[in-house]
Amino acid sequence: MKCKIERNTVQETLILPLYSRKLCTELYPNLYKDETAARLLDQIDYDFSEAEKNSRSLMQRFGALEVAMRQSDLAFEVRDYLKGHPNAAVVNLGCGLDNTGRACDNGRCKIYNLDFPDVIALRQQLLPAGNREQNIPCDLKDTAWFGKIDASGGVVFFASGVFYYFLTQQVRELVRGMADAFPGGVLVFDAANRTAVKMIAKTWLKTAKIKDVGAYFAVSDAAKEIGTWNSRLQVTSRGYMLGYNDLRDPSVSGFFRFLARVGDNGMKMQIVKIRF
Ligand SMILES: C[S@@+](CC[C@H](N)C(=O)[O-])C[C@H]1O[C@@H](n2cnc3c(N)ncnc32)[C@H](O)[C@@H]1O
Repeated sequence: MKCKIERNTVQETLILPLYSRKLCTELYPNLYKDETAARLLDQIDYDFSEAEKNSRSLMQRFGALEVAMRQSDLAFEVRDYLKGHPNAAVVNLGCGLDNTGRACDNGRCKIYNLDFPDVIALRQQLLPAGNREQNIPCDLKDTAWFGKIDASGGVVFFASGVFYYFLTQQVRELVRGMADAFPGGVLVFDAANRTAVKMIAKTWLKTAKIKDVGAYFAVSDAAKEIGTWNSRLQVTSRGYMLGYNDLRDPSVSGFFRFLARVGDNGMKMQIVKIRF
């Protein structure tokens, strides 16, 4: 039997990146590979006809490339942290059905995947926790989950496509709490400015016909805006389309590279890195 996803919930948003990762694996095999995404999509009871229809449009393809790029940027940061802290905890915040933790597994780290209970129940069926891995049901806004992370070997947190659905004040409280609880840890996540976040709500959520879910948290100058939240935070950021990869692959058109520059520079699409 296939697993069902409830419509019009924030959980349903996990379908968008999952589908994008499958699409990018087909369209840009030199740049990106996520074989689990295609396998999982077959096992989910969800009407993909809309996504399939949209996948032919140029903007949906570019959106899919964005999703794939942010995933490889975050994986780069996780692997980089593991070089200096091989026994660290690798924590996927709002994991959906993303398997980045395991893709970065060095054979020694501890992997934690956190999401709402119904998503974790689905994940347990489709991606049961492996060695040194735990799937933890929680609401990220309730800090009770802090106690479940063994950060004795260091900790790297990443959140992909998650904080857009939080209010600024909620991200601030979470980041402050994490900074106090996990000194020496690192948090990486994708963000964008107000214009881009409005577009996410208008185009992505609307074309996918996901109702009652808003997008809120936006950042323009990360160091300036987030750096003031807590004096301990060291904040840096890199463009998320071109900050880690020059996209100079024949499969990527000149037009898409132009859009990538507009995204990074005009919309401030970025990977924010906070050292606690
Ligand atoms: C757009 S999806 C991204 C999923 C995954 N990170 C990926 O890239 O495929 C957003 C995810 O964040 C989760 N999420 C949002 N708010 C959350 C919260 N307060 N607590 C736990 N999970 C949350 C949703 O359930 C959903 O799985």
